[in-house]
Amino acid sequence: MKRVYNFSAGPSMLPLEVLEKAQKEFVSYGDTGMSVMEMSHRSKDYEKIINKAEADLRELMEIPDNYKVLFLQGGGSTQFAMIPLNLMNKNNKADYVNTGQWAKKAIEEASRYGKVNVVASSEDKTFSYIPKLDKSKFDPEADYFYITLNNTIYGTRYTELPDTGNVPLVGDMSSSILSEKIDITKFGLLYAGAQKNLGPAGVTIVIIREDLLGNAMDFTPTMLKYDIHAKNGSMYNTPPTYSIYFAGLVFEWVKEQGGVAALQKKNEEKAKILYDFLDSSELFKGTVVKEDRSLMNVPFVLPTEELNAKFISEAKEHGLVNLKGHRTVGGMRASIYNAMPCEGVVALVEFMKKFEAENK
Ligand SMILES: Cc1ncc(COP(=O)(O)O)c(C=O)c1O
Repeated sequence: MKRVYNFSAGPSMLPLEVLEKAQKEFVSYGDTGMSVMEMSHRSKDYEKIINKAEADLRELMEIPDNYKVLFLQGGGSTQFAMIPLNLMNKNNKADYVNTGQWAKKAIEEASRYGKVNVVASSEDKTFSYIPKLDKSKFDPEADYFYITLNNTIYGTRYTELPDTGNVPLVGDMSSSILSEKIDITKFGLLYAGAQKNLGPAGVTIVIIREDLLGNAMDFTPTMLKYDIHAKNGSMYNTPPTYSIYFAGLVFEWVKEQGGVAALQKKNEEKAKILYDFLDSSELFKGTVVKEDRSLMNVPFVLPTEELNAKFISEAKEHGLVNLKGHRTVGGMRASIYNAMPCEGVVALVEFMKKFEAENK
């Protein structure tokens, strides 16, 4: 069957070359005579796979030596708890910015372990912008300052990082990792679930500055302590071996594409094609303020619910699938992660033009 252009927010489209490589290696990896899924995580062969994945990620993201890279489980949502459990350890308080549902869930979870100060929120306008930050509201004694770099549901992103001084900045990069260059040294901790830009669901990558390790709250379950995973090279227990292997193949693919800067350029071009059309259309409308528009998730609406439903259904017939927006925004959302080729975005815009002409 012909492959479709899959605009899903996650799990989402993966590079075809990577899928094909994984398929080739699926039954027998190299000269091992077994699938990666069948390998002991403590074998020499698997050690090479995880070490290469980490080395490639370090190269791609320019991760300094004083940061650990952890391959964990439990998705982004487990990080909502791990972060306060491990980092809210001096003054038992943290600053958060509320930019959408995922930030809100992180706030709710952190509130169970300490005092959360919501520095700013964009909830008043359905999270359609990134709120301006007033430094006088930052707590200089906060144990950390938490942001969601790209807001998957609402299609916003930070284009400038807050200056938090000595307070470690913590970032959720689940829907934008490897899509644009980021200065790791500005962060104490960065994390991302894999199922958008990195590979299949199952592995969550945490990049943490070493000085933040080792002070988890007493009652933190062993499996939720960063230092346990750091000391054991992400092998305290059986890691999600296949997801890590697959993410490693994606890292190799990103390197072949010219690295993160080259992908960022491509992502900016792809997003521009879609936003330029939205700005010129009389029927379709983007829902996000221009300056905060995401490069990865592009929400848009038509004037009526009937037209939204008609568009989604007809788009599907044209091989453009998973365009339904999140229920809190309505309308449509096109997720155009690294693996979405430019041709996919062009095909979507061509179809939008045709739909506009037919439904004016
Ligand atoms: C920005 C962001 N953070 C966190 C999550 C939660 O991730 P998970 O479903 O892996 O727990 C998501 C999921 O889509 C997300 O988009």
